[in-house]
Amino acid sequence: MKDDKSDKTPNWKSDFPIEKKKATHVSRREFAKYLGLFSGALAVGNGAIVIKSLFFPEENLKGEHFVCNEADVPVGEMFQFNIEGSATVPYILIHLEDNKWRSFEQKCTHLACAVRYRADINQIECPCHKGYFNADTGDVIQGPPPRALPQLTVVRKEGKIFVKASEKEQTV
Ligand code: FES
Repeated sequence: MKDDKSDKTPNWKSDFPIEKKKATHVSRREFAKYLGLFSGALAVGNGAIVIKSLFFPEENLKGEHFVCNEADVPVGEMFQFNIEGSATVPYILIHLEDNKWRSFEQKCTHLACAVRYRADINQIECPCHKGYFNADTGDVIQGPPPRALPQLTVVRKEGKIFVKASEKEQTV
């Protein structure tokens, strides 16, 4: 007796007669449509960023903000912190040498990766595209970052570290 089960087309196939070739084929027109939609979404996103930066500039920090105790960060170490009210901007505090402290935004000025201090080369490194910044000034040393890291002024008081909006001259 012949088993004719293998010859039978499953029920679902006869209910939904879709050819695999047709189902996976993307026509030139469809491709162009998706490309157009994707490009349009990118353009809208870029436009929103430009508008935000032009009409809603980030506010400068006001007042002094406590970061940590001096004893918490030995020489050559970095301390990451946020400031209340500006949780979207992470900062770093660096203890460069005895009584010499620096603080910068932790977002790389290229594509906003988190930077870190490397004591072995005394520079701030962005691991994403090998950008390097001067740990004293925040200036770009090498790599794609277009500008220096925004810097805060460090204030020391009775063994405690505070930061405030940058002044032209370093106080510490
Ligand atoms: S994001 Fe820092 S170098 Fe590209």
